Amino acid sequence: MGDKHVVRFEPVGIEIEVDEDQTVLRAAAEQGIMLMHGCKEGQCSACKSFVLDGEDIELDRYSTFALPDYELEEGYTLLCRAHPYEDLTIELLNYDADMIRSGLPIQEATAEVSSNEPVTHDMRHLVLRLKEPTQLKFFPGQYVDFHVPGTDLTRSFSMANTTTKDGGRLEFVIRVYPGGLFSQYLDQQLAVGDDVTLTGPFGVFTLRDAPDARLVFLGGGAGMAPILSLLRSMAERGIDRPAVYYYGARRRRDLCFDTELRELADRLPRFSYVPALSEPEPGDGWEGETGLITDVVARHESGLAGADAYVCGPPPMVEAALPLLEQLGVAQKRIFYDKFTTTGDAGTPLSTGAGPAPAGQRDARMRQVPDDDHTRTQRSEACVHRRGGRGQGIPRLDGPPVQLLRAAEAQADPLRGRDGRGPAGPQALPQSGLAVRVLRRPRRLPAGLDRLEGLGFRPAGTGPVPRLGR
Ligand SMILES: Cc1cc2nc3c(=O)[nH]c(=O)nc-3n(C[C@H](O)[C@H](O)[C@H](O)COP(=O)(O)OP(=O)(O)OC[C@H]3O[C@@H](n4cnc5c(N)ncnc54)[C@H](O)[C@@H]3O)c2cc1C
Ligand code: FES
Repeated sequence: MGDKHVVRFEPVGIEIEVDEDQTVLRAAAEQGIMLMHGCKEGQCSACKSFVLDGEDIELDRYSTFALPDYELEEGYTLLCRAHPYEDLTIELLNYDADMIRSGLPIQEATAEVSSNEPVTHDMRHLVLRLKEPTQLKFFPGQYVDFHVPGTDLTRSFSMANTTTKDGGRLEFVIRVYPGGLFSQYLDQQLAVGDDVTLTGPFGVFTLRDAPDARLVFLGGGAGMAPILSLLRSMAERGIDRPAVYYYGARRRRDLCFDTELRELADRLPRFSYVPALSEPEPGDGWEGETGLITDVVARHESGLAGADAYVCGPPPMVEAALPLLEQLGVAQKRIFYDKFTTTGDAGTPLSTGAGPAPAGQRDARMRQVPDDDHTRTQRSEACVHRRGGRGQGIPRLDGPPVQLLRAAEAQADPLRGRDGRGPAGPQALPQSGLAVRVLRRPRRLPAGLDRLEGLGFRPAGTGPVPRLGR
């Protein structure tokens, strides 16, 4: 446990305490605050926020596609990677006012495998029964983190069912990757009766209450799981909103839950299921829709103004769907999605359950997630302004803010010891017996001004900046 600091979220005015050892996102989740997030691994940018006040933040490793350096410099941060070392005020770029206080308690649970069957040639249908605790409350569409046996790693998988009230049941649809750390273990070792441990629930891919809005679901691959959960919950709760589910697969052998989805259409009279194959082969005998799922949606839909859209699947599919849905008239803030980012390193075989991924793998992965600017449910006006105006109204410093340290502190600065890319390391100034640590972001003056003024740093535009002399 480290020191705790107060983190305030604007414009919602919520304050939480965050231990230095925790990320802001994790601390918020533990305190029932549902912040926007996706991968929790610094890859998807769903949790990107703006630091209004405070600058002493340490980031665990993240993708520079999710948070490019220029955005970091401007004051953006990733809440799933950010450890605070002082009190902070954070502006949430994306939040859902209806959901933000509705977080469910995060629990660690042990569950036993009830069944583990292939549902397509490369996806498995895993059913668990909770042992301890025997119930885990979650909202349909949420996910849990599975602990990979023999490692300290986790992998995220979405529930396909709706509740654990029926005997502690949890159901998943999991894609098996060649070399996938957890999925190979699932495919080749995990047997009925074995235990798994998991933590959750997480995620904000949940059905928003908007009785008059038409629903458009768009899924691909294992994105089936949370969408199935949402549709099952609609059927259970008698939510008969006009709804359509476009599901994309390559070939007929990639389709799953076909019978159940067609039956759901009987239970929900205003629901229709539109599977489409992008690479059907003659032997498939396919007479349904063909083409990329986004092309199929474009062919079927002429205007979606007023609709709510839910998109889930591999990142390229999600990225293709977002602009299309906007073009068709879905409001940005009514597009909800989970991007199934992969955790392991592309093309690098990982051992199954035999220790953490070798050093360097995460580095390689970190540059593979495309930047994405669609992570929004509700964006405050202030932020839109800031994105255009780049921190207008916030005083800046002409020189980089620095914090004085004793030279000895510069050698061993344990709070900066995380494995991520932190601020530039402290530099010793040997003749003075001092060192400076360049803080990451020149932004608000008050916090650092008292210690900076003496060094000649001034607010932008207030005169020449003397250099730090020895
Ligand atoms: C919120 C959320 C919910 C999810 N829910 C589900 C779900 O319900 N079902 C499901 O199947 N998945 C889901 N995922 C995705 C899943 O967590 C990842 O695919 C995970 O990496 C699989 O773990 P693994 O150990 O099997 O494979 P990993 O060891 O993580 O490796 C995955 C495979 O992908 C390859 N790979 C990694 N990165 C890349 C890349 N950038 N390009 C190409 N190949 C790459 C690796 O070489 C490896 O073969 C979810 C992800 C998120 C963020
Ligand atoms: S949740 Fe933070 S980058 Fe994905």
